[in-house]
Amino acid sequence: MTKPVVLIAENLSPATIDALGPDFETRHCNGADRAELLAAIADVDAILIRSATQLDEEAISAAPNLKIIARAGVGLDNVDVPAATRAGVMVVNAPTSNITSAAELTMAHILASARNLGAGNSSLKAGEWKRSKLTGVELYEKTLGIIGLGRIGGLVAERARAFGMKLVGYDPYITQARAAQMGVTVMELDELFACSDFITVHMPKTPETIGMIGAEAFEKTKPGVRIVNVARGGIVDEEALAVAVADGRVAGAGIDVWATEPPEHSALMEQDCVNVTPHLGASTVEAQEKAGVAVAKSVRLALSGELVPDA
Ligand code: MLT
Repeated sequence: MTKPVVLIAENLSPATIDALGPDFETRHCNGADRAELLAAIADVDAILIRSATQLDEEAISAAPNLKIIARAGVGLDNVDVPAATRAGVMVVNAPTSNITSAAELTMAHILASARNLGAGNSSLKAGEWKRSKLTGVELYEKTLGIIGLGRIGGLVAERARAFGMKLVGYDPYITQARAAQMGVTVMELDELFACSDFITVHMPKTPETIGMIGAEAFEKTKPGVRIVNVARGGIVDEEALAVAVADGRVAGAGIDVWATEPPEHSALMEQDCVNVTPHLGASTVEAQEKAGVAVAKSVRLALSGELVPDA
């Protein structure tokens, strides 16, 4: 009997394959390579992806046998969910798999920005000893503005509190009770811009959040603010940020996610006080294992006709 085919289109933890078990034929392809993806998807029953594979209407239509799309991560912004629904394809993700990793990378970027770690690292390796030029700031008693107080924003709040930071937040959906439990003072976005020494964003990418921290926001932010984006590329407008860094309104930034990945030329790459990483928020052994195992279980259930519980 032929086994259902599961296509693994991105680099996933070996635990994913173990969790799938022996009942499937597993194949691999590079989902970021469009031609390779469209050829490989043609006769598969399930596809496992992370963030680099675009499963739009064209890709979904190229897969007439497809029954389930499993996204080993939090967001679903690279999947055309309405197109999948129209085609009768189930879409699942692993919404809690990497929240700790994302929150920890956020703290790493906040600390790296406060203490000029990127510039210290690159200048020392280039043979320079720039101690006085790289004086940083403490996190203690600084105000952290958290935009988006969901699962990841909440974990960031918990960690930042341990550094003695004052926490303010913006989230249209948070209740006062939940915010109080997190120790976060909720306010309007403009107020948050005006009082925050550090701003970190933890919102999904939607038409409303694209460019949310852009030229207009940088007119309102506190002079010397530091900006972190480990959420989704484009929520912080890269060009506007580069201008605000160049003219000194923004003292530093940590950017993990990009409007286009990999990013094309960005002025941010040339700015010493901007630390950059290549979308590493979920890239830990632990997060990848949790995400891979969670989606493998969903695929097993879906392909054996069983109910897939909400993650
Ligand atoms: C996520 O949405 O969970 C991550 O962006 C996944 C990834 O790193 O590919």
